[in-house]
Amino acid sequence: MQTSQPNNTETMTDPVIKKMHNHVHWAKDIQQKGLNILITDDDPMSRTVLSGFIAQSGAKAHEVDNGQAAVEYCQSNPVDLVLMDLDMPKMNGFDATHEIKRIKDQFIPVIVVTTYEDETILTKAQAYGADDIVSKPVSHELLLSKINAMIRLKYLYDREKSLVLHLEQKIKERDIANHRLLKMHNDLKRLVEIKTNQLRQKDIELLEMDRITSLYSLAGGMAHEINNPLGFIKSSLDNLKKLVMGQWNDTHNLQDFEKAIRMIMRMDKGVKRIVNIINILKDLSNVSRARHGPLDVNNSIRNAIEVVHSDESNYDIQMALGKIPPINSSPEEINLCLMNIITNARDAVAEKESGIISIKSFYYADNQTIVIQITDNGIGMPEKIMPRVFDPFFTTKPVGKGTGVGLTLAERIVKRHDGHIYLTSKEGQGTTVTVVLPV
Ligand SMILES: Nc1ncnc2c1ncn2[C@@H]1O[C@H](COP(=O)(O)OP(=O)(O)OP(=O)(O)O)[C@@H](O)[C@H]1O
Ligand SMILES: [Mg+2]
Repeated sequence: MQTSQPNNTETMTDPVIKKMHNHVHWAKDIQQKGLNILITDDDPMSRTVLSGFIAQSGAKAHEVDNGQAAVEYCQSNPVDLVLMDLDMPKMNGFDATHEIKRIKDQFIPVIVVTTYEDETILTKAQAYGADDIVSKPVSHELLLSKINAMIRLKYLYDREKSLVLHLEQKIKERDIANHRLLKMHNDLKRLVEIKTNQLRQKDIELLEMDRITSLYSLAGGMAHEINNPLGFIKSSLDNLKKLVMGQWNDTHNLQDFEKAIRMIMRMDKGVKRIVNIINILKDLSNVSRARHGPLDVNNSIRNAIEVVHSDESNYDIQMALGKIPPINSSPEEINLCLMNIITNARDAVAEKESGIISIKSFYYADNQTIVIQITDNGIGMPEKIMPRVFDPFFTTKPVGKGTGVGLTLAERIVKRHDGHIYLTSKEGQGTTVTVVLPV
């Protein structure tokens, strides 16, 4: 039997025996793997001979008698190799080979076993996908050697396929890991943004508290320092007034008396202004404890001007305050908002020869809102900084002059009232800030 093993080293040196040994070696492989080989032939005699060869080599032989049966068998059973006759009923060997080769994700080697020797027919078989050809009558040794070659090829194909599958799986896993990493990166980025915003918000709150506290201590200190001398000045003035008036009839120097009275009146006005400013500062120090109620915003405008503007200022204030209904707010908050806007306008016209700040207020009945417009003819601002002016700590002013939170606070106060604040400006020409507050 051709599959028996050589048993001495002498015979192994013979090239033919060696070749035989190789076949035996491969045949042993077939045996070990328990391969499934499908024999497709309409001639029962041929099938029996081929089945005998296969059985001897240790593989399992399965038989079908036409091409169509071979295709169907391959589609639903594990098959390692097909031996294919060409001339058969129902479906010939060419078409069956073609169909078997089209089965997805599988490499089933097909060896055509035929009596044809015509080259065109053999070429055609290969064109239809046949991997090899063996002539009938079949030599057992040749058939086994061809089967082994094909099995080796199939083994390589299957190994490569599982490697590819393994690689694809790894790539998929890496993609999933990358995706997760990206998601984590984005989550982290979002978290950092949220935390940064929270910190910025805290910064503003601290700064606002800082301002309020310093205003409070300023107001408290001023009130304490000024109140006593003020009381003294006021009572002295009252006495002086009475005294001057009492001596009116006895004096002959009318001009001096008139002068004295004018001076007293001016002092009286000055004292009233100091009292007013102290009251406003006291109000401002209460922003954090502010209580809402009906508020006349025109009054807040006047108060804010009182603090920011003085007789010595080198610009004019023009006011056109319309009849507006009260809004629900606190004087402390609205004063702080307007003071910041008017202070900016004042800074903007500081270098101007004929600086003008005009302030308008009116009621917009359609929307039930009041509108306050503060316009200056100062330096204006370049277009590129306009989107940033409400940002916390954005300032173009020198260190010590501006902290860059005036408009941030103004915007926050307006928004707290469900209102809006708009800004238009032209560099070198001036700026208008419009505040809209619901009634
Ligand atoms: N009326 C204006 N005219 C020209 N520029 C303005 C005017 N109002 C605001 N700006 C610009 O917007 C910037 C931000 O204003 P904001 O009031 O927030 O801060 P600031 O005035 O610089 O400092 P702070 O108000 O905290 O003392 C200013 O530095 C300035 O460049
Ligand atoms: Mg400012």
